[in-house]
Amino acid sequence: MSEAAQLFADGKAYERMMGRWSRLAGDLFLDWLDLPKGLRWLDVGCGNGAFTEAVVARVAPAAVAALDPSQGQLAHARQRPGAKLAQFRLGDAQALPFADGSFDVAAMALVIVFVPDPGKAVAEMARVTRGGGWVATYMWDIEGGGLPLRPIYVAMDSLGLTLSSRVATAASRQDSLRAMWEAAGLQSIGTQVIRITVGYADFDDFWDSISAPVGFTGNAINKLSPSEREQLRARLREQLPADRNGRISYEAFANAIKGRVAG
Ligand SMILES: C[S@@+](CC[C@H](N)C(=O)[O-])C[C@H]1O[C@@H](n2cnc3c(N)ncnc32)[C@H](O)[C@@H]1O
Repeated sequence: MSEAAQLFADGKAYERMMGRWSRLAGDLFLDWLDLPKGLRWLDVGCGNGAFTEAVVARVAPAAVAALDPSQGQLAHARQRPGAKLAQFRLGDAQALPFADGSFDVAAMALVIVFVPDPGKAVAEMARVTRGGGWVATYMWDIEGGGLPLRPIYVAMDSLGLTLSSRVATAASRQDSLRAMWEAAGLQSIGTQVIRITVGYADFDDFWDSISAPVGFTGNAINKLSPSEREQLRARLREQLPADRNGRISYEAFANAIKGRVAG
């Protein structure tokens, strides 16, 4: 299993940290795609099934195949009542285990920066999608500051604490996405910025959800010494925008792209 897949091995912790924001953005992404019902979908890098469940609930697919390299995430996904229609399997976006033209839509939700060769993954999605079908993705705009976990990066940075995130952040930029879609021969390319409000009942709700050992930030927080953790907690409490009831909310945004396979 790759380093990126290991980081996301705990499907339950992922749900608490990111699943809810992933679902909010995923719903907007699906609305924007605005595709007909009854299509055969492929969900690449399905993780714990948050987006898979949204596909089943919102676009009435004929079938859904969903793939991820993490067994832990897949185990969580398979238990989702709303994703029973989906066929989950282990696999890598760069070598999709499907024949050419098997799907009407191949989508990748919040995955592209974790794939070592993102262009290869896009080419693979185009290969397994039929002529006239759609290939689409959305990813938090990491370089533009759209990540829901951005306050943690900012706070750690301000304290001189290292947070190594060896992901291809450039792949989350709109120009990089467009270049990959064009290189894969996709046509009628459309792009969109998806904005959501990230909200927590209070600081403890925020801290509990981000300090589970999942993803780069959760794992980094769990490696801090007790005093560093306390420093980070205090810095975040100071930096986060809270209203007079203690409720925290801020904006996160993602870049989305879609294109059609020729033919
Ligand atoms: C941030 S999660 C997104 C999960 C889900 N799509 C969602 O919207 O919540 C990133 C996922 O990418 C998966 N991943 C990492 N490397 C991958 C690869 N090479 N091919 C396919 N998926 C990969 C991870 O295992 C993880 O489940």
